[in-house]
Amino acid sequence: MKLFFLLNLVIMTSAHAQDFETEAKALAHDLKSSLMKNLSEKVAKEGAVKAISFCHENVKPIAKSAAKDRALKFDFGRTSHKIRNETNAPQAWADVYLKEFQGKFKGDIKKDFIIHKLENSKRVYLEPLYVQAQCLTCHGESVAPEIKMKLAEIYPNDKATGFKLGEFRGFIWIKEK
Ligand code: HEC
Repeated sequence: MKLFFLLNLVIMTSAHAQDFETEAKALAHDLKSSLMKNLSEKVAKEGAVKAISFCHENVKPIAKSAAKDRALKFDFGRTSHKIRNETNAPQAWADVYLKEFQGKFKGDIKKDFIIHKLENSKRVYLEPLYVQAQCLTCHGESVAPEIKMKLAEIYPNDKATGFKLGEFRGFIWIKEK
């Protein structure tokens, strides 16, 4: 009887873990695709300079609307070792993973995601983001002068340029509330 109970507990615990992983992965996917869709549409229609102001004003509302009622269960965001917007500064739990990934390229570290357990037993899902060709316009090594100017105007402490194609850019993270 005791064994049965224990076995059940183990099964239930792993089902629970699976649920979080599945839900977090789906949410990360929806956030990424919604941000990318909005960003590429804006860049295509109005150019990168306008897209920067657009991102600045709309990233959080766009993410919130992509999350829908999952925002009741989860906190989420993006962070990096080289941040642009200070509101994305890493929380303590991200530091060790940022140190592990910074300067690495896609494929160097064979982890598609990480699940970190906080001291209060809440879990955080972190998924690495790598620089794709279209990211270089605003995060690359040779950023056009008009983009540099716009970035300097909105983000005077911007650290998020100088990235190479395929380089680790940061994490998208989902945390249980
Ligand atoms: C049109 C310019 C532009 C492009 C293209 C772009 N970004 Fe950004 N990125 C920004 C701006 C502006 C911010 C700051 C948004 C804010 O104010 O929260 C940002 C913030 C981020 C952040 C949050 C961390 C931080 O530094 O504040 C990550 C991660 C990120 N970008 C990754 C990417 C990736 C990956 C791509 C390509 C798929 C990409 N970006 C393409 C302009 C751009």
